[in-house]
Amino acid sequence: MAKRQNFGFQKRQKEADKQKKKEEKAERKRARREEADDGATGTDEGAEADEESDPGAGTSELRAVAEGAVHAQARGAVAERAVHPTPRRAVLAEAAGRARLEPELATRLEALCEAGWDLWDRFDNQVRRQAFHPFVAADYPEVLEALIPLRAPGLRFLEWGSATGVITIMADLLGFEAYGIELDPALVDQARELARVTGSGATFTAGSLTPTGYRWRDSSGDERLGTIGHGESGYLQLGMPLEEFDVVFGYPWPGEAPMMLDLMRVHGRPDAVFLLHGTEGVQMYRGGRAVA
Ligand SMILES: C[S@@+](CC[C@H](N)C(=O)[O-])C[C@H]1O[C@@H](n2cnc3c(N)ncnc32)[C@H](O)[C@@H]1O
Repeated sequence: MAKRQNFGFQKRQKEADKQKKKEEKAERKRARREEADDGATGTDEGAEADEESDPGAGTSELRAVAEGAVHAQARGAVAERAVHPTPRRAVLAEAAGRARLEPELATRLEALCEAGWDLWDRFDNQVRRQAFHPFVAADYPEVLEALIPLRAPGLRFLEWGSATGVITIMADLLGFEAYGIELDPALVDQARELARVTGSGATFTAGSLTPTGYRWRDSSGDERLGTIGHGESGYLQLGMPLEEFDVVFGYPWPGEAPMMLDLMRVHGRPDAVFLLHGTEGVQMYRGGRAVA
């Protein structure tokens, strides 16, 4: 308990609670105002329709694959998450406190997540509001809680679709030998910079999480990969096949989890741990089976 006071978690928890109450009050006020506006003018409908029709339509392969109903639904879920920020710092502090992390490590992880949230907010405003992009930041405290019990010397960690690199760097700070594969080279640059400023030795490579020759087909024969794009295998640049990783992390969009589980089945090591981040949190799999 004393340790938690040392790095200001309790204070932050109080601040976060206060902030949450403020936000809830503002949200109630906003809802009341919208109700009143709807009754008076009805102009919000047009604005909503504009939001739905993405300005980047048809401009990229990524945008094209996102047009399916599954992804429209996913975008709703993501938007929902983005407009209702949880008191994120407090949740992270709780996770670190429960795991009794060393104060210095907890402080570094806290700084990493702060930087990650800033990068995500900027990306969301500057990129995702212009055109669809599949990057959505993971729930960092949830992932931290899932990773902590897996820590052991010499384990190799891989993040599929590592984006700004927060999860891979988190794994590195926790002691894993950590690697991230990301298709978007601009995000790989951001991840490398984040690793530099956080003093992390995590390795990032631009490429695809799908090894050369891998083909996905669901039970109905559908080969579509959703938002998962095509590119040269990232394992070639890493110089390591998927089966050399002990822990693999993936954060798929709705509908894409079966492909990720299949990829682990076909190319992963049978005893490797697969951490699948879904809307309900992080589920651990080993040998294709969910582990409680
Ligand atoms: C939902 S985001 C996950 C972000 C990150 N893992 C996190 O948890 O914060 C999915 C990421 O996968 C990337 N991506 C899409 N297709 C990919 C592929 N074939 N190989 C590697 N990364 C891919 C996207 O650019 C995006 O950054």
